[in-house]
Amino acid sequence: MKSAYGRTVPAPRIELTHVEAGSPMGEVLRRYWQPVCLSEELTDVPKKVRILCEDLVVFRTGDGEVGCLDPHCAHRGSSLEYGRIEKSGIRCCYHGWLYSPEGRVLEMPCEAAGTCERMSVEQPGYPVKEFGGLVFVYMGPPDKQPLLPQFDVLDTSKGNVQLRGARIWGDYAIGYVRDCNWLQHYENVVDPWHVLVLHQAISGDQFESAMMQGRGEISFEPTTLGVRYKMTKALPNGNSLVRCSECVVPNIALIPNIREKGVELIEEDRCSDVTWVVPIDNEHVMALSIVAWPLENGKLKPDWRPGTDTISDIRPGHETARSYRERQLRPDDLEAQESQRPIAIHALERLAGSDVGVVRLRRLLAEQVKKVELGEDPMNVFRDPNQRIKTNAWNSVVKQLELSDS
Ligand code: FES
Ligand SMILES: [Fe+2]
Repeated sequence: MKSAYGRTVPAPRIELTHVEAGSPMGEVLRRYWQPVCLSEELTDVPKKVRILCEDLVVFRTGDGEVGCLDPHCAHRGSSLEYGRIEKSGIRCCYHGWLYSPEGRVLEMPCEAAGTCERMSVEQPGYPVKEFGGLVFVYMGPPDKQPLLPQFDVLDTSKGNVQLRGARIWGDYAIGYVRDCNWLQHYENVVDPWHVLVLHQAISGDQFESAMMQGRGEISFEPTTLGVRYKMTKALPNGNSLVRCSECVVPNIALIPNIREKGVELIEEDRCSDVTWVVPIDNEHVMALSIVAWPLENGKLKPDWRPGTDTISDIRPGHETARSYRERQLRPDDLEAQESQRPIAIHALERLAGSDVGVVRLRRLLAEQVKKVELGEDPMNVFRDPNQRIKTNAWNSVVKQLELSDS
């Protein structure tokens, strides 16, 4: 036996895992719009969020404008999370300085007339955009601000879907926030082998889908946007499932319907959601998605996925309250990923053939770090407003014969 006595634990690979401002990956992630919360979460009180190791306060004014500011009031530091939302901005609870969504101080009620104009105080903050039911912020250098990506799967021009923001992950997972580094959560997207072990052999069939049936082959491919896996499964019913799941660098996951049954023939049924894997800080991650919910006769299609009527049904809330014993007997992604350590130690890993997707993803991320260090745009920074981005994740169900012919 190799004794564990005296073993040492190397440091995590900071270059890819740490996300604070000034860290290599923190600077990469700050070159993209990142979602911070759902639009519907902005109510009559401000919302404090933490993202990329920074605390921020997000709010919607009475006029409907959204702002995202440093929480600590420029006067003497009280947090704007306790501020009062008014028609034109947010008012600090302590001495009443009123901030516009852009951070300009509009009123200083305790000061002599003219003081506000003379001092011309500005609170630091970030630009905000709302899209698809999510609130996005851009936390990078102002002169590098890109456009929000226009993914093909979120195209509403045909009028057959409605975009809705959601705190979901795929279709089956536990907890909206994970207590671990963002990268070990993200890598899961290009780790199809774990589906067959964790979600099937160990914990029972957790997806009840074609993915879990028959014999299969798995490969990994570079895509225009990142990397994907391709799983081909010969199903007992004579059909084959061809499934591709994609990581869109640096932190977007495209996971097609994991509950596809493989009964009806389908051609490239693309993802119905785009999910951002958003680091809260170095040891916590959350997922925010835009779901393209199908419409039927102009209304949201009910029971669109098996057993789901609303977005909150997609992620069964009760799954978060499992006992330790139950989690040991039937672990899920949460148990597998959080227990890799708060930040997985790459130097201790013994990577093998099934990890090719993970290795390619890490390599791509390291390349983006280099690009940003050289002053270049990293990949998937879009600046053409007419560019519709073609994604590469889908399920197809074909006759087994067609597959062997092609
Ligand atoms: S601390 Fe905010 S107004 Fe004084
Ligand atoms: Fe999983």
